[in-house]
Amino acid sequence: MTTTTIPQADLTTNLLIDGEWVEAAETFDDLNPADGSLLARVAAGSAADVDRAVRAARAALDGAWGATPGVARGALLNKLADLVERDAAIIARLEALDIGKPVAQPGMLDIPNTVATFRHFAGWADKIQGATIPTAGYLGMAATHSYTVREPVGVIGAIIPWNTPLMIAAWKLGPALAAGNTLVVKPAEDAPLSILHLGTLIEEAGFPAGTVNIVPGLGPVAGQALVEHADVDKISFTGSPEIGRHIQKTAADTFKRVTLELGGKSPQIVLEDANVEAAINGIAMGLFFNQGEVCAAGTRILVHRSLYETVVEALGQAADAQVLGDPFDEATTLGALVSAKQQERVLGYIEKGKAEGARLVAGGTSPDQPGFFVRPTIFADVDNSSTIAREEIFGPVGAVIPFDTVEEAIQIANDTRYGLAATIWTQDVSLAHTVAAKVRAGAVWVNGWAAIDPALPWGGMKASGIGRELGWSGILANTEEKVVTIVL
Ligand code: NAI
Ligand code: MG
Repeated sequence: MTTTTIPQADLTTNLLIDGEWVEAAETFDDLNPADGSLLARVAAGSAADVDRAVRAARAALDGAWGATPGVARGALLNKLADLVERDAAIIARLEALDIGKPVAQPGMLDIPNTVATFRHFAGWADKIQGATIPTAGYLGMAATHSYTVREPVGVIGAIIPWNTPLMIAAWKLGPALAAGNTLVVKPAEDAPLSILHLGTLIEEAGFPAGTVNIVPGLGPVAGQALVEHADVDKISFTGSPEIGRHIQKTAADTFKRVTLELGGKSPQIVLEDANVEAAINGIAMGLFFNQGEVCAAGTRILVHRSLYETVVEALGQAADAQVLGDPFDEATTLGALVSAKQQERVLGYIEKGKAEGARLVAGGTSPDQPGFFVRPTIFADVDNSSTIAREEIFGPVGAVIPFDTVEEAIQIANDTRYGLAATIWTQDVSLAHTVAAKVRAGAVWVNGWAAIDPALPWGGMKASGIGRELGWSGILANTEEKVVTIVL
């Protein structure tokens, strides 16, 4: 179905280790989700490949990169941002082919956000500072002079998901590189191509060999080897809670630092006084952007009973108005899901929704065509204790739930194992702040969805993860604090 292919010149499929592109003993098949065809055979890194990449990262840390001052690290990050901008069209095509998303979407989010992230952290690179701290002195015998230093954590393993791979890789690379760390990046099996292209840009920008190594491969092989490796200091992971839990347990053996971003079941709370039109547009975007394969997707739509039928009907219409199809057709607003596995998973949840008694308002099936498509789907009258309200579906499926009071809305919003994001739709400033204070989520948006920015900390509460990425919090998560005391 897809008419576009990848020019060989834009296709990178090998491992990047110590500044060299090298083959692996084995490959895995990377598919085009829009028609199921083979896009590329990509190097499947082994434990030995991961080990070589970790050694290269350690050598760069002890060598050229470790000796690169902050201002020069910042200049390299700015150069990388320029190169991503230059290659925006190539990257958008790679993302659309690899993930199945409409080709215009990377230009709306992934690429500008990646560029902004590298620029934001370029700015921090020469501004990471410690403090001088007065103390009572040394055992009453001598005065002291104490100061703190923020040092890089060391070698960081970055494990990336397939939904917005370039952008999430940037969220890990930006702060880690600004703070002087080196990395081994493990892209997801379903979508490694944009990150491999980024590897060519990292080389072109002139980062010292071994600063960033990229080892695509299977999660249980390459990912596992990275998490187990004794010389990796930290794992930064974005993906499912199940793998996140496994990573944290495994990382405990070697006392690695771990940050986890594990998705959510984020509420969209439509209060009685909401601007309904704005809310419906924002909710539709929060459900259908990137096929709903978004960690912060606003999938539980809590609506005040006075607006309930209006919102249900409008969301059904918004779902039906989506144009499902070829990611390279300009009219398309909703592409394919990333894999047959994800399509099956999403269809399985839709069947559970029907079986558990929710009212199907729109969608609910796959079109009869090749590719891993699922129609945009809205369920109304959903019980918050049912499966489709509790589990992350990671597809274009919304669950609408009515409420009568603000207290009830807050109670339902928080009745979930997740806590990544929440949106509140209201025109009452006081109510906005009151509800924002009570919702347990790492990010609360009022009258908008996914108002993200590299300057703002990002991460979840509860099962949505541990730690924060981005902003100054991203620098803190990528540094160790050392105190130096001189007995005078
Ligand atoms: P996953 O959690 O299995 O994969 C994420 C990354 O972890 C991939 O790079 C994978 O290769 C790697 N991985 C897998 N096993 C590993 C291991 N033993 N050690 C180290 N790394 C390992 O996610 P999957 O199966 O692709 O998607 C399943 C569900 O996870 C989705 O339906 C969605 O609900 C959720 N998810 C959430 C994301 C988010 O942004 N928070 C992103 C992707 C998936
Ligand atoms: Mg793919």
